[in-house]
Amino acid sequence: MLVEYYPLLRAVHVTAVIVSISLFLVRALIGLRAGPASVPKLLRILPHIVDTLLLGSAVCLSIALQKYPFVDGWLTAKLLGLCAYIVVGTFAIRRGRTPAIRALALVGALIIVGYIVGTALHHDPAPWRW
Ligand code: HEM
Repeated sequence: MLVEYYPLLRAVHVTAVIVSISLFLVRALIGLRAGPASVPKLLRILPHIVDTLLLGSAVCLSIALQKYPFVDGWLTAKLLGLCAYIVVGTFAIRRGRTPAIRALALVGALIIVGYIVGTALHHDPAPWRW
């Protein structure tokens, strides 16, 4: 039963969240200073591995707790927030044509990820109520 691994899954998920946000920030800041093309290859590959762990642990946690997006509001908010974070994040990293657009997208992505963490901590799609 997956629920037996809940502490491990949660630890993997939270660690992947911290590493993923840190890698995104470093990658976006390098791109802002020196242009997206100068981001080292490792910083382009590593996020794929970490994000796979993040999503994989998220799915396992959902199954372990029997709480699912489109059933539990805070998990729906997390999933939709994650989609928005990915789209806005790609503008911060490479799709934004000018440094100003990339900087704006970076701020937007950080606000979105802050919202996701808020919903995770409070199990509430409107974490500002707390
Ligand atoms: C960037 C995306 C994500 C971030 C930043 C994030 C963040 C977090 C954090 C900080 C926690 C720990 C909360 C606590 O201490 O109680 C957590 C737990 C959890 N997350 Fe995520 N998460 C993300 C994506 C997802 C997704 C997409 C799902 C599911 C579809 C998900 C499902 C869960 C579940 C089920 C828990 C366990 C909650 C509990 O222990 O009661 N997460 N997440």
